[in-house]
Amino acid sequence: MCGIFGYVGARKDAGMVVIEGLKNLEYRGYDSWGVASSVAGKLVVSKDTGKISGVDAKSFSDESTIAIAHTRWATHGGVTPKNAHPHLSEDGTIAVVHNGIVENYRELKEWLSERGHTFMSETDTEVIPHLIEEEMKSGSDFAAAVRRACLKFEGRFAILALHTPTHTLVAARTGSPLIVGVSKKSDGNAEQGYFIASDIPAFLKHTRIVQYLDDGEMLVTDGESILFSDLHTGEERPKREIEITWTVEQAEKGDFEHYMMKEIMDQKESVVRAVNQDEAQIMTLAQSIRDAQGTFLVACGTAGKACMAAEYFFSVIARHHVNVAAASEFKLYHHFLTEKSLLVVVSQSGETADVLEAMRVAKAKRAKVLAIVNVEGSTIAREADYTLRINAGPERAVASTKALTGQLAVLLLIAHALAGKLQEGKTLLLEAGAMINDMLNPRYIERLRKLADRIKEDEDLYIIGKSWNYPMALESAIKIQEVSYVHAEGFAGGELKHGPIALIEEGTPCIALIGKDEVMSDILSNTMELKARGATIIGVCPDRYDVFDEWIKVPDAGTAQAIVNIIPIQVLAYFLAVHRGKNPDMPRNLAKSVTVK
Ligand code: G6P
Repeated sequence: MCGIFGYVGARKDAGMVVIEGLKNLEYRGYDSWGVASSVAGKLVVSKDTGKISGVDAKSFSDESTIAIAHTRWATHGGVTPKNAHPHLSEDGTIAVVHNGIVENYRELKEWLSERGHTFMSETDTEVIPHLIEEEMKSGSDFAAAVRRACLKFEGRFAILALHTPTHTLVAARTGSPLIVGVSKKSDGNAEQGYFIASDIPAFLKHTRIVQYLDDGEMLVTDGESILFSDLHTGEERPKREIEITWTVEQAEKGDFEHYMMKEIMDQKESVVRAVNQDEAQIMTLAQSIRDAQGTFLVACGTAGKACMAAEYFFSVIARHHVNVAAASEFKLYHHFLTEKSLLVVVSQSGETADVLEAMRVAKAKRAKVLAIVNVEGSTIAREADYTLRINAGPERAVASTKALTGQLAVLLLIAHALAGKLQEGKTLLLEAGAMINDMLNPRYIERLRKLADRIKEDEDLYIIGKSWNYPMALESAIKIQEVSYVHAEGFAGGELKHGPIALIEEGTPCIALIGKDEVMSDILSNTMELKARGATIIGVCPDRYDVFDEWIKVPDAGTAQAIVNIIPIQVLAYFLAVHRGKNPDMPRNLAKSVTVK
């Protein structure tokens, strides 16, 4: 959600650098873009609605050594070039890009208007450069003015501000992520400079050395040096330099047409990587779940479906009760929390605002937090008491695929550890990894492509499951909805007769997710109920049954069935999108990293 990228340094093509880098943040979801660079001491601004992918970065290779750029996901004000960032101060020397919301912008706008400021957009963001300018008028230098302005904003945000006369970038954050890429000549890099971005792929091509700006901090850089400080007290905050392990290739889509398909294919290896955990740490964490007086699994979206599946893992494998809640709903659970509670948060990006909020709710009660994340160094990873990484590598398609199976694998491993069967769990998951490797062969993919072609005109699609396949039915619906815009809904098979079965007509496609487990006969009965009302049944199951009109064979993965069953649905969703002429990597209205509540 909203991508920020800025550069200051020795390179003389700052405009091009930031536009190119911004293209690597497209996955965050946005509807317009903009860039400002300082050329011969003057700000040159370009902005537009639509996608940045077609924009020729080279046309921005101006004689500039400082620039900021932004992809906007509209919150305040429609999708128009005027509302796109950067926004400028009255005198045109300050440019600002922003992620988040200035909740009190109306009051600030009024106050600034009284002082002669004029506004060109409907955004909350535009008050920021004007307020900074106003603070400078009362004697503050640029950095101090940004600090003073930030302290007047309510809400969670990240900003990056450029001041032309002093050739300075200042960044501050109280919520959304900002990461610095460091390129030092002394380290053998070609050019001295600093990159400041919402996410690492923006600058991965230039450097793998990073420094993290934390909540409540700001930084000032002129390209030669950088200074981090506390946003409130101004006290200096020295930062470690960390080397990122991701490679540029991992973050690229290679020969694949879309990131979504590339990431589906990555699951041939990523599930096995997720299992590669420090055993002693898993055992310790399993013990803390055992010792906790109440464990809450909390996440959003797809990660939330992994948590729902884990509730079954903990029940069936470890006979241990856990609670599951959507992060956006967790606030009201605080009455259940004590310092003996344990919050387990699951997040691919490690930046989801609702999850961070849930962590703060838990921390206020001094409960401990275990985070299961993909992105190393993310805010959730840094704020948690313990962190486990799923090691899926960068996931850029909005539709989460390999992160989900990685999350399921880690949760399944913990459930086994809790049952005192860690090695058994490991073997099970390594076998599941090998099964996925076998499944994702060209013939299998082709079958699913053809199936998608056959059902692409259907506007409704229902998916049923039971036990851990029930959350996978919900996840299947998310996958299909978000990339193909087909109306898809997931249900617990047993719930059909309490309402949803009324929706079934002759030929309605219904997918049944089935495993060879204790609930198999129940879900087969539910499938027959659908069939009796005319549904066309697509069975995802290790064995073929007469009730299926189409059979998608999956391996028998035992308690890891949820992991293998979701794979063909991911592929099906992908092809439904492609056959319907949609770009699966750019679903409308959605964002990869949801940093607003
Ligand atoms: C967004 C993404 C989903 C993701 C969810 C939670 O909605 O589009 O793919 O599951 O956020 O994100 P997280 O990064 O916390 O897993």
